[in-house]
Amino acid sequence: MSNLDQAMGQCSIVECITNQNHNPGTFPDDEHVLSNAQMQTAQSVIAAWPGYEPTQLLELDVVANACGVKSVLYKDESTRFGLQSFKALGGAYAIADVLNSFVSKGGKPEDFTAATATDGNHGRSVAWGAQQAGCNAKIYIHAHVSTAREDAMKAYGADVIRVDGNYEASLAACKSDAEKHGWQLVSDTSWDGYLDVPRQVLAGYSIISAEVMDQMGEQRPTHAFLPVGVGGLASGIVGPFWDDMGSNMCKAISVESAMSACFLESIRNDRPTLVDIAEETMMAGLSCGEISSLAWDMLRPTLSHCLSITDDGVAPLMQAFANGQLTTDSTKIEAGECSTSGLAALIAATSDPAFKDQLGLDENAIVLLIGTEGATDPALYSDITGINL
Ligand SMILES: Cc1ncc(COP(=O)(O)O)c(C=O)c1O
Repeated sequence: MSNLDQAMGQCSIVECITNQNHNPGTFPDDEHVLSNAQMQTAQSVIAAWPGYEPTQLLELDVVANACGVKSVLYKDESTRFGLQSFKALGGAYAIADVLNSFVSKGGKPEDFTAATATDGNHGRSVAWGAQQAGCNAKIYIHAHVSTAREDAMKAYGADVIRVDGNYEASLAACKSDAEKHGWQLVSDTSWDGYLDVPRQVLAGYSIISAEVMDQMGEQRPTHAFLPVGVGGLASGIVGPFWDDMGSNMCKAISVESAMSACFLESIRNDRPTLVDIAEETMMAGLSCGEISSLAWDMLRPTLSHCLSITDDGVAPLMQAFANGQLTTDSTKIEAGECSTSGLAALIAATSDPAFKDQLGLDENAIVLLIGTEGATDPALYSDITGINL
């Protein structure tokens, strides 16, 4: 049995709810949330960075056939700036932006310290961005972040501080130390009173869907499965789509681990709702118990559905990607744990008539999946796929 066949029997949706407040209308273009000008500035700054190249939009034709949809497009972020995840776009761009204003007021980059809490990938982007910009980075990680991820951040010269507990505990420690020492918090999540830096992170991510639209020409997706941790990635992707498609926006569907489905709970309750994480999903980047307030403003009107999944598809799908089973020309794709989430949701949804109908996944569906990471944890990647990178 192929890994894909195995995954088809294993992927499972825990919950799928329809967003009662779904009503995109015209893109608000609001500089207090996210504006066109902010997205366009970020996109042109990032496009001028050395080594910039749009990431590939791959067609998973075997999956489209198996799922009975018109096409499945996979945006492969595993090659983004050599950092192996889309996160390369957000933290590094936000650092460049805040450091610019620090230097324009007479400060020196070496006197500037950026601090953040992370599950791994955002910290790597901040560490890389700080190294590029010549400033310092303090990265707070929680008890469950692997040593491979810790080492990847240290390799860019960052100080890495490990804190007992979960992501929320590392964020609390980071906030308090940053205040004590006068460090600039460069977080990928936002809250009341802390919006400017995370807004730049979203603006950086917006280049992903801008590239997708360029790559698709006149065509647009009908469905986008968006992996959600704090909701920053999904918001950055929704921005350009919302501006382009307005009230005809494609169905935007959040995909979370059932162990940390804070967006699903928030949409269900129609208010930001904290989720207590009792167990860590293998999809480490999705393990967040509290949504970003900017993400709430972006996603409450634009998400058509929220769904949560189990971890059962992670290993077989990573293998199916790695072994080239998802395209007829056997393209081998480096996909990390979080990159399986959208595909697992699509497979589970199309194999259940009720979910298929709820999401409108018929033979005309053009489905966009976001491959948010490659082998960001190389030891785990090789354990699962048998491939040593
Ligand atoms: C690989 C990967 N995918 C998806 C996400 C989710 O992004 P966000 O937290 O912005 O919702 C993360 C976040 O860390 C991640 O690292």
